[in-house]
Amino acid sequence: MLGAGGGRGVISFCGIELAHPVVNASGTFDAIAARRVFGDALLEEFPFAAFVTKTVTVEPRQGNPPPRLWELAGGMINSIGLPNKGLAGFLRHDLPELADLPVPLVVNVMGFTREEVARLVETFAELDAVAALELNVSCPNVKTGLVMGADPGETAALLDVVRPRTTKPLILKLTPNTAAPADVAAAAEAHGADAVSLINTLRGMALDPDVRFQPSARPWLGGGTGGVSGPAVRAIALVQVHEVRARVRLPIVGMGGVQRGRHAADLLAAGADLVAVGTESFRDPRAGERVSRELREHAAKTALSRPPAVRA
Ligand SMILES: Cc1cc2nc3c(=O)[nH]c(=O)nc-3n(C[C@H](O)[C@H](O)[C@H](O)COP(=O)(O)O)c2cc1C
Repeated sequence: MLGAGGGRGVISFCGIELAHPVVNASGTFDAIAARRVFGDALLEEFPFAAFVTKTVTVEPRQGNPPPRLWELAGGMINSIGLPNKGLAGFLRHDLPELADLPVPLVVNVMGFTREEVARLVETFAELDAVAALELNVSCPNVKTGLVMGADPGETAALLDVVRPRTTKPLILKLTPNTAAPADVAAAAEAHGADAVSLINTLRGMALDPDVRFQPSARPWLGGGTGGVSGPAVRAIALVQVHEVRARVRLPIVGMGGVQRGRHAADLLAAGADLVAVGTESFRDPRAGERVSRELREHAAKTALSRPPAVRA
């Protein structure tokens, strides 16, 4: 079950041993590009306890037309559109390099039908280099028109199809773009998910600064709308992790706006078991390592400041 580098960790997550509780958020850290920049030093001091890939789809995707990013005072809106090499391209070009990382590998997958997700899950189920799968369910099922992770019935039906295809841990990545993510998490738990991760980005939009008046106002991003991430979403992540923890016993990977150890500590206090760093890695490629160090320092300080009765 463990990927390369497993077996020396201090935390157990779905049976996978991890050295600390900080991982990367899918799509926000390119380990292959980072290896080119930092060389083998990246492998010696990998910033995350596990590596989560960018979303892989069955067919290759170009992604959305530019512009793809809009900076906000508290983060960004991205409309990248999930560009990727597709399943065959990922297996041929990316997996061999990712299998070399010194930490367990989590592959994030997305399909436009249940059968597509099943095909992805089945393929990765066979591979020893893959420790777990994360299901990105923020897109519509083209057959039902429902977003797979926004509706408890749709999530349950998806898991009923994919769960039997693998014994590897399945992490369902919840979307915040729904009225009750906790209902979806409860459906995920009842239908065999091993963990949930949250939050994915929130839908947002920016207007072209040069043409922002009616009737010619138009969106800035090539994809029209995009996903908001970064510090702006931190309070939303916190409440959703809290609400999901109140409903399910599944392990939770909490993410959304984590920049400092303190933010990670808050998500853990709200009920997360692991924390993912996303947008912050664009500002500081070593953010994962820094957040995990700050988290340790924060935990030590908190323990020291507790009354002795609580510490014991
Ligand atoms: C540029 C960018 C690309 C992303 N790509 C993916 C992706 O491929 N798959 C996915 O499940 N989430 C993707 N996400 C969402 C993040 O994994 C994370 O859920 C979200 O950004 C919230 O965390 P943050 O505020 O720390 O960035 C992406 C986010 C950003 C900013």
